[in-house]
Formats: sequence, C-alpha cells, structure tokens
Amino acid sequence: MRLYNCAKRVFELQFDNQRQDDMQPTDAFIEGLPKAELHLHLEGSLEPEQMFEFAGRNKIDIPFQSINEVRAAYDFANLQDFLDIYYQGMKVLRTEQDFYDLTMAYCRRVHADSCRHVEVFFDPQGHTERGVPFQVFIDGIAGALRDAEIDLGMTSKLIMCFLRHLSEKSALETLDLAAPHFDHIAGVGLDSSEVGHPPSKFVKVFERAGDMGLLRVAHAGEEGPPAYVWEAIDLLKVDRIDHGNRALEDSKLVTRLVETNMTLTVCPLSNTRLCVVKDMADHPLKRMLDSGLRATINSDDPSYFGGYLNDNYRAVAGALALTKDDLTTLAVNSFLGSFLSPDEKAAHIKRVTDYASGIGDDD
Ligand code: ADE
Ligand code: ZN
Repeated sequence: MRLYNCAKRVFELQFDNQRQDDMQPTDAFIEGLPKAELHLHLEGSLEPEQMFEFAGRNKIDIPFQSINEVRAAYDFANLQDFLDIYYQGMKVLRTEQDFYDLTMAYCRRVHADSCRHVEVFFDPQGHTERGVPFQVFIDGIAGALRDAEIDLGMTSKLIMCFLRHLSEKSALETLDLAAPHFDHIAGVGLDSSEVGHPPSKFVKVFERAGDMGLLRVAHAGEEGPPAYVWEAIDLLKVDRIDHGNRALEDSKLVTRLVETNMTLTVCPLSNTRLCVVKDMADHPLKRMLDSGLRATINSDDPSYFGGYLNDNYRAVAGALALTKDDLTTLAVNSFLGSFLSPDEKAAHIKRVTDYASGIGDDD
C-alpha cells in the first residue's frame, strides 16, 4: 500500500508539473476576467451525472449503463450526430424541479468562471413534443435564473429557440404557447439541423415575434452557407448571429456585419467537436477580430463539447496565441453584444477594462 501511495504521489507531482507546463500566461487572466455568455443551450449543460440522477427519479430508461459509456458516446462527426444524442438526453427532464436543478447547476458553474451575465437558450418544442407543459419548464428555468441573480448576483435573459427541422406552423404554435410567459422571455432564436432548413422558412414567425416585442437571434453559418447568414439578417431581421463562422467566405457579408456592429456568438470547442473546424489552430476567431467583427466566445453545449466558458477562452487563447488585449476585447464584446441596457453594458465594460488595467479586483 505504501509503495502504491508513493508511486501515486510521484505520478501526481509529475502530473502537477505537467499541468503547470501546460498553463498559458493568459490562463490566470482569463479566470478573473468579467465576462458574459450569450450562446448556451440549457439542455446542452446536462451533465451525464445529472442524466442518471433525473432518469432515476423520473423512472425513465436511458440507453447507457455508466457515466463512462455516456461520455464515450459523445464522439460526433457533424451537427446531426450531436443533435440525435442531445434530443435523446433531454428526455430525462420532466419536472419543474429538473429544470430548476439543471439551470441552477449551470449558473453556479459559469459564475465560477467570472461570468456576470448569461443569455440562455432553451428548446420548448423539445419538451412540449414529449408532453411536458410550457408552464412546467418555464417555471423551473425562470425560478432558477431569479435565484441565481439573488444568490450569485448574476443577471440573465432567456431566449426560446424554434427547432428548424420542424415546420413554421409548429414554431407559430409554440410562440402562441409562450405568449402568457413573455415576462420571462426576452427573445426568440433558431437552432437544430441547419442545412436544408434556411432562415427563409421562418419569416412569418420571426416577424410575429418582432411585432410582439421580442428580440431575434438565429444560428447561421455554423454548417450552412453564407447565404443563410444573409437571410438571417435581411429576412429574419436578427439582432445577433449565432456562430456565423462561414460568413468569412463572403467579403461583402463581412463588410455588412462589421458596418452594422453585428455580434457573432462563436463557440470554439463546439466547432472542433462538431468538425466545423478541423483543429483549434485553424479556428477563425482571430481572423474575425482582425476583420473588425464583433466576435464573442461561448460554450454552446458545455456538457457535450468538453468545456464551459473559460475552457473555451483557454482553448482559443492557447491555440491562436491570443493576447490579454484580445481577451479583453472578447469580454467587452460579450457585454456590447448582450441584451442589457446601455447603462448596464457601460458598467460591466468599465469593470472589464479596470480588471485588464489592474485596477482593483472584480466584485
Ligand atoms: N442545438 C443545440 N446546440 C446546437 C448547435 N450547436 N447548433 C444547432 N442547434 C443546436
Ligand atoms: Zn448553439
């Protein structure tokens, strides 16, 4: 036993040294940098441990025997591979308590990454289609976001996404179902399988959402072509583009995005895990910043893609040799691109720039 412990300790020391060798000079800076997350699917924060816990208490069968088996299944060749397992995973969410616990766990986790504000997506059709009433999940999610603001001082907005592989009729019905809950909902989004489901399929529902006073965002240019980004801007009148990587293929589109200060919610670990980008060293984030695009860093579906917000910052900072100035720009962009009021944005941005110039600690 002594021998084993001794060998184990040597291994741990070697591992610690390795970890220190792997630490980038910017890692400590990222840790305390105040930031916002603008692209996070709540259902994509479901950790395998929670999957088992919720399945157990709701008596739902899942096709996995162990946590390791779940993690081994998270090996995706493209977006659809991931979506198949993501919709399977969310079936364990049934009660208001499940949605509350899921949301609160995410809030606590990202708060530890110095995140001060979150704009959270959820997929109502992924739940109503399974017979879970709107009231059940909205109460759980909104209750946790309210408590996160009280307990952690972290503010939030909620964005309901339409599943683009379903019909516009279904999206319109979902908007009607959501109407009594608009006090909790800031905007609408568009997610799920992109190619073959262009933004033009959802013109009516986005127009109606805008008339109802909701903000508008859409996933575009993740796997789909630049034409989908044009459609999101010109037809859906979006306030923000989610992903937008493929916009770089069209210089006129880049000019339009720069001139209109359009925010792109970029998700580096998601891009490598879904093979949108082959290697983090090829990630377009630095090129986006150099082109004057308002790019931000986000985690998308952290439990499925191997990292929360700071993991994403660290991954690109290391692979693209981002400087502290780049990281500060990204944090400032996260507040500029948020749906906070101008005064709230200004207060957060001052905290970011004070932190970057070493004036006081955040908080
Ligand atoms: N739903 C959850 N994550 C998504 C992503 N990265 N793209 C499209 N739909 C999603
Ligand atoms: Zn997404």
